[in-house]
Parts: sequence; structure tokens; C-alpha cells
Amino acid sequence: MKVAIGADHGGFLYKNMIAAVLTGKGHEVLDLGAYGPEPSDYPDYAKAVAAAILEGKAERGILLCGSGVGICVAANKFPGIRACLCHDSYSAHQGVEHDDMNVLCLGERVIGPELANELALIFLEARFSGAERHVRRLEKIREIEQAIIHEGRGFWHGV
Ligand code: RB5
Repeated sequence: MKVAIGADHGGFLYKNMIAAVLTGKGHEVLDLGAYGPEPSDYPDYAKAVAAAILEGKAERGILLCGSGVGICVAANKFPGIRACLCHDSYSAHQGVEHDDMNVLCLGERVIGPELANELALIFLEARFSGAERHVRRLEKIREIEQAIIHEGRGFWHGV
């Protein structure tokens, strides 16, 4: 699978480690930085990975920072990105199967390296179910995104 990966300084070491593991398993990895351990800003890498997915250069993304929180918040600002912080194996595959999660977020300061590698592989092996109820819920998320884009923040008044 084509996978875009990115991290700030807080996730830099795991980003390189996971990229090597995925490449070894035959995945095509697009490394979008950071390319060094110097302090950097996680929204920049969230934007790069989100753009790669939305432009069709990658099918999925993996983002890392210290906790995994900041980069997940930033990634979810992009309509069409469904990013989740998953530090357990159930969420890493169920998030794809039920919710079509397309970006996995991880925190290098929170979990160990072997778990991080396993979660990345589990995420990439999972496939969306296509079940009617899951498609329906995703369509409701798309409707929210479209309403915000076209009607602005006030669209939910009167809900
Ligand atoms: C960087 O120190 C740290 O704040 C960042 O990597 C991340 O944990 C934010 O959520």
C-alpha cells in the first residue's frame, strides 16, 4: 500500500523506525518529514500527509508526535481525513473497518517501539467493511464537512 508518514521532533525516531518496517513488508512509504530531530511544528506534517492522501499520492497516512494528540487534532481539520490516535490493536483495525480511518496517529512518548510497529501494520492490513450502517454514518460526517465548507460555522444553529 502507498503510505504517507510524517512526524515532528516528538515522533521523529518512531517515524523512521516505522517507515523502515513498512518498507521491509513491501509497502511504498512516502516520508514527508521531519528529516531531522530539531524542534518543529506538528501541523506542518499533518498538512503534508493530509495533502498526499487528498491528492491521491497515498492511500493512508501515519502521523506521530510526542503524545499523538496535537498531530491528530491538526490532521482532522482537513475534510476527508479521518485521523485517530490508537494505542491499542482493537482500535487500530476497528477504526478502519467501521469508520474508514485513513490516518493512524501515534505518540512516541507514550508507547513502546514494538507496539508502535505492530499498530502500524495492523492499521494497514485492515479494510473498511462497506456495511450499510458504516457507510451511512460516514455519509453523515461528509454532510457535516460539506455544510461547514459551504454554510460556515453557523450551520448547526437550530439543530
Ligand atoms: C512537542 O514537544 C510536543 O508538544 C508534540 O510532539 C506533541 O506531543 C503535541 O501533541
